[in-house]
Amino acid sequence: MQNLTALLLSLSILLATSHASVQDFCVADLTLPAGPAGYSCKSAANVTAADFVFTGLRKGGNTTNIISAAVTPAFDAQYPGLNGLGLSIARLDLAPGGVVPFHTHPGASELLLVVQGTLVGGFVSSFSNQVYVKKLVKGDLMVFPQGLLHFQINGGGTTTVAFASFGSANPGLQITDFALFANNLPSVLVEKTTFLDDAQVKKLKSVLGGSG
Ligand SMILES: *[C@@H]1O[C@H](CO)[C@@H](O)[C@H](O)[C@H]1NC(C)=O
Ligand SMILES: *[C@@H]1O[C@H](CO)[C@@H](O)[C@H](O)[C@H]1NC(C)=O
Repeated sequence: MQNLTALLLSLSILLATSHASVQDFCVADLTLPAGPAGYSCKSAANVTAADFVFTGLRKGGNTTNIISAAVTPAFDAQYPGLNGLGLSIARLDLAPGGVVPFHTHPGASELLLVVQGTLVGGFVSSFSNQVYVKKLVKGDLMVFPQGLLHFQINGGGTTTVAFASFGSANPGLQITDFALFANNLPSVLVEKTTFLDDAQVKKLKSVLGGSG
């Protein structure tokens, strides 16, 4: 009898616990700062269908830039309905000669689908610096494991369009060249930590907008 009571009690605690955690959605309240778990939820009374729809990927971004490429994110900051759901997407447009230089997404793996043109994708493993590179055509997928350095290059003479989905509503994006050369880290430290010479570092800083 005592055992049965204990069982019922623990069952009801379990049920109460799982019930309490059920929430249909948590649309981001972009007026409040985000934390490691994402944004706070907007009041349900203020949620509309538009929060679950994103139209910003209809067109590609502007590829008239140093990398001849545009990455248009649909992460939680742009698409509040994704908050807390553990997934997101971005559109990638690569003009001929375009490249998304070595970069990482600290928060998620990436699954890339080519929908137009061709693309050379590659990543480097962290344990042996093994390189995995492949040319993709329309309809092909490539997965880039979480946190690993990777790149995408236009594979031919025409514009390439691809969509990348992520296992996080905020996968993050850090482009290695920008991290090294687009800020004010003193050149002497950049040279020391990259083994590049002063002329190379100064040149890259001037091209990418860094100083120091
Ligand atoms: C809903 O949005 C309006 C306008 O942004 C705001 O003034 C109001 O406080 C919000 N309601 C709730 C319950 O958060
Ligand atoms: C694209 O960016 C370039 C360089 O910033 C700019 O000159 C051009 O007007 C932009 N094109 C469009 C369509 O916005």
